[in-house]
Amino acid sequence: MAERAVFECSVCGATASQWAGRCARCGEWNTLVEALPTGRTSRRTPARPIAEVGTDATTSVPTGIEELDRVLGGGVVSGSVTLLGGEPGIGKSTLALQVCAEWAAAGHRTLYVSAEESASQVAARAHRLERATDNLWLVAADDIDVALAEVERVGPNLVVIDSVQTLHAADAAPGQVSQVREVTRRLVDAAKTRGVTVIVIGQVTKDGELAGPKTLEHLVDTVLSFEGDRHQALRFLRAVKHRFGPTGDVGLFEMASRGLMPVADPSALFLADRVTGVPGSAVVPVVEGDRPVLVETQALVSPKVMALPRRTAQGLDHGRVTMLAAVAEQRGHVALHEADIHTSTVGGVRVTEPAADLGVLIAMASAQLDQPIPPDMVALGEVGLVGEIRRVTDIDRRLREAERLGFRRALVPASADIGATGIELLRVTHILDALQQLARARRLSSTAA
Ligand code: TYD
Ligand code: MG
Repeated sequence: MAERAVFECSVCGATASQWAGRCARCGEWNTLVEALPTGRTSRRTPARPIAEVGTDATTSVPTGIEELDRVLGGGVVSGSVTLLGGEPGIGKSTLALQVCAEWAAAGHRTLYVSAEESASQVAARAHRLERATDNLWLVAADDIDVALAEVERVGPNLVVIDSVQTLHAADAAPGQVSQVREVTRRLVDAAKTRGVTVIVIGQVTKDGELAGPKTLEHLVDTVLSFEGDRHQALRFLRAVKHRFGPTGDVGLFEMASRGLMPVADPSALFLADRVTGVPGSAVVPVVEGDRPVLVETQALVSPKVMALPRRTAQGLDHGRVTMLAAVAEQRGHVALHEADIHTSTVGGVRVTEPAADLGVLIAMASAQLDQPIPPDMVALGEVGLVGEIRRVTDIDRRLREAERLGFRRALVPASADIGATGIELLRVTHILDALQQLARARRLSSTAA
């Protein structure tokens, strides 16, 4: 007979049949707590071939916010706990309130627990969203017991807790780590026993860590990360962890005067202000989550002002930019060692894919040589240290997106396997090759004009 696990580590979720001062799995002290006997019954089932094991039929309910549902793979699972993390001012409260408003509009009772702002401040925000809010309940509380008592009294389908760091549990040990853990554990309990769906907001510090323990991630079902530049309208929503499906896709929002709006056509948004025919700009089809998106990368090359030349990268990886500048110099004979190089992406997008290498490199070369890249051209390819251009994933989808936005030529790795496309392919094996093709394309453009 399998023994029944009755204790659970509140940090890593490991179970034990006996209490111990220290968790055997993660080594944390004083973290074993008595586990509710729910949801552990599978431990008594003998092993079976995987084909005979039925999958859990989890029902996910669309939130009514399409970009969020995309990230969650359809919607939020009833009775699940979602941690929504992000830097201050990014729009977590707004997004959570919008979910409440949508659910309320669909006839579900929702409760927003605010420990950061007063009820009237939250109400003012809800008013800005211009949604009917009949079923949306609001309470300002900073004690988890008070919050849970309100959950009991109001009986909502959905609860938002804003935020986990500002709520406290009277009987937990003082100190932020044990407080946020205890608050989260209670919320998980409430979700599992009452079937209420919970969204917990978590503040993230500048360096991207959840203030408090990263270990909260083990306690909840889903962890969403809300990112973007606070000073720009664009926001990215990503699932860092999702117990109910894939975590690949990205939700794109724009912060507007009436809350967060979905971005239907991100490529068009990123390219909206593009100035064509100027040196130092290259368009790269990158893949964000599941979507190909066209992004403009820019480079400015100027005589160095200090003894050591500077390289800066906004939205790009600094080390990668430095490497690409060195490759352009050594393998592509583009003189850059006496120059400062500033690079950036447009629109606050972060591009870390190696597929963007070639675009960044030709943007730098274009800036240095003062020769614009033809406006109807995109570039794709990873650049290696000997200047070779390597294949990238998903090339067909990237090229389709480029074609949709009116691009007619693409620099692509010579070895790439590419299906039928309306785009003219300029296949290149090495950056020297790419720079030559660019020069030729420019000559053809100028004679045609
Ligand atoms: P907020 O949701 O409060 O961010 P967080 O909870 O992550 O700290 O909102 C961030 C900013 O968005 C805030 O400074 C005001 C602005 N905002 C709008 O531009 N439009 C709106 O409709 C709302 C509600 C907020
Ligand atoms: Mg907030």
